[in-house]
Amino acid sequence: MSDGDHERTFVMIKPDAFGRGLVGEVISRLEERGLKLVAIKVENMPRERAEEHYSEHEDKPFYDDLVDFITSGPVVPMVWEGQDATRQVRQMIGETDPLEAQPGTIRGDFALDLGRNVVHAADHEDEGANEREIGIHFDDDELIDYDQHDAEWLYE
Ligand code: RTP
Ligand code: MG
Repeated sequence: MSDGDHERTFVMIKPDAFGRGLVGEVISRLEERGLKLVAIKVENMPRERAEEHYSEHEDKPFYDDLVDFITSGPVVPMVWEGQDATRQVRQMIGETDPLEAQPGTIRGDFALDLGRNVVHAADHEDEGANEREIGIHFDDDELIDYDQHDAEWLYE
């Protein structure tokens, strides 16, 4: 293994993507990139946990809408692992506003509206985001330990 840090990052498929049948598409993109899936579940997120998840935005005018939306239907919280996983995933997701997201990114290919942008991923500029968000959504024993059999082809 070389270059960047091998790390875990928190990603979540939002209710719009769930309702539109895009769960498999999002997971496929992350899998095909070579990232390793270490945790996944389907749930209706309790409001209290949604408020904690988005606490960084609690003073923003869109906070209530954000919490309403993320609790409005099933979500798929996940943890993915790999070299520079946080930045790799953020690049694959694209800009927050789909209008700014490049074609080829998940938001650039599947979204039109800022408030319906398909997927959440931990912010690589926020140092503690992954640890915090993984801790909010998963117990330690939900993170699965196994060998990624194609790692020898993915990493130098
Ligand atoms: P996310 O947290 O969902 O992965 O998105 P992000 O990091 O790209 O964007 P962030 O700034 O964390 O904002 C969280 C979500 O809030 C909605 N938003 N609305 N009305 C607004 O100005 C506004 N700004 C952000 C978006 O749905 C964004 O994904
Ligand atoms: Mg964010």
